[in-house]
This record gives sequence, structure tokens and C-alpha cells, in this order.
Amino acid sequence: MKSFLTLFSSALLLLTAFAFADEIATMRDKVAIDQDVNPQYIPKVTNDDIKQARNYPMQPPVIPHTDRNYEVNLNVNKCMSCHARNRTGDSQAPMVSVTHYMDRDGNFLAEISPRRYFCNQCHVPQLDTQPKVDNEFVDMHKIMAEKAAKPEGQ
Ligand code: HEC
Ligand code: HEC
Repeated sequence: MKSFLTLFSSALLLLTAFAFADEIATMRDKVAIDQDVNPQYIPKVTNDDIKQARNYPMQPPVIPHTDRNYEVNLNVNKCMSCHARNRTGDSQAPMVSVTHYMDRDGNFLAEISPRRYFCNQCHVPQLDTQPKVDNEFVDMHKIMAEKAAKPEGQ
């Protein structure tokens, strides 16, 4: 009886595996093993040096240049070699804002604050590609313009 049950459940498992085989995401995009996969397009990082508008005042600006091989670790911070206050003359990069030199009590430090050390926590480069999902974000200026266009109370 026991062995029959084991057999039965493994048969059931196998059946389920077949039934769901189509829905399992694979690295090969469901292409059979004897066929070549068409590699997916790898988008390029936008590297046009043109600053992007910020969507709201507190937004960390996106990075308009590639950051490949720019290391940020315990010993070096490549970003600061251009963005530190005393490097901007040579690099012509915008200085990290003054908030980046403040500790959590609002005191100003000589060096970048530990809270702002890992730049990529907040700043990211962009890819030259179409968004995978729609974005329903509405700029507050649009909301204000719409409100102004409507007569009061409507
Ligand atoms: C070789 C110098 C250099 C390095 C290294 C560098 N940047 Fe930049 N960065 C620039 C310059 C110059 C600009 C101004 C726009 C441009 O020319 O790309 C800029 C622009 C930016 C901006 C846009 C600022 C704004 O107001 O829109 C951000 C954010 C930024 N960099 C973040 C970073 C981060 C994060 C790193 C490290 C991963 C980094 N940068 C490394 C030179 C540099
Ligand atoms: C915790 C999030 C955070 C981290 C970490 C961070 N930033 Fe920022 N950054 C911001 C925000 C938010 C702004 C815009 C508001 C402000 O200036 O504080 C900004 C602004 C900037 C600007 C534009 C300054 C200006 O006045 O136009 C530059 C350049 C920049 N950051 C570079 C860097 C670099 C380089 C690092 C790493 C050393 C870094 N940031 C780390 C959040 C962060």
C-alpha cells in the first residue's frame, strides 16, 4: 500500500510538472535545448552628459554619464574624485550638494558624510530603453495647471 501511494504521488508530481512546464520562467526563454536562443538586446547606458530635469525638489538627480568601473568602497570613492568640493575646478562636475557634507544633526563636515558615501544608493544612471511598466507619476506643476484651468469649486 505504502509503495503504491509513493508511486501514485510521484506520478501526480510528474503530471503537475508537465502541466506547469509552460509557465516556468527559464533563462532560455522556453526555447528548446537543441535550438539557439536569440540573445536579448542589452540597452546602452545613457552617456550624453545632459542633466535630466528633476521630477520633484527632493529627487536625487539621475546620473547623466556612465558609471562603469567607478568604484566606491572602503578605500576609494571614485565619484568624489570629480564631485568633491575641491575637485570641481578640475573636473567641471557639479559639487555634491551641501546636504552631502552634513551629519544627521545638521553639522557640516569637511569630508562627505557617511550618510552620503554610497552614491549609488540614491543616484542611478539611465538606460536607453523603453520602460517595462507604465509610470503614472504626475508632476505637481501639471496638477497646479489643471486646478488653475478649472473654475472654483469644480
Ligand atoms: C570623471 C569625472 C566624474 C566622475 C568620476 C563622476 N562624475 Fe558625475 N558628473 C561629472 C560631470 C562633468 C557631470 C556634469 C554632467 C556631465 O558632464 O556628465 C556629472 C553629473 C553627475 C550628476 C548629475 C547632477 C545633476 O545636477 O543633474 C550626478 C547625479 C552624478 N554626476 C553622480 C555621479 C556618481 C554617483 C558618480 C560615481 C558613481 C559620478 N558621478 C562619477 C563628472 C564625474
Ligand atoms: C541618501 C541618498 C543620497 C546619497 C547616498 C547621495 N546623494 Fe547626492 N543627492 C541626493 C539628493 C536627495 C539630492 C538633491 C537634494 C540635495 O541636494 O540634497 C542630491 C544631489 C546631488 C547632486 C546635485 C547637486 C546640485 O546642487 O545640483 C550631486 C552632483 C550629487 N548628489 C552627487 C552625489 C555623489 C557623488 C554621492 C556619493 C558621494 C551622492 N550624491 C550620494 C541624495 C543622495
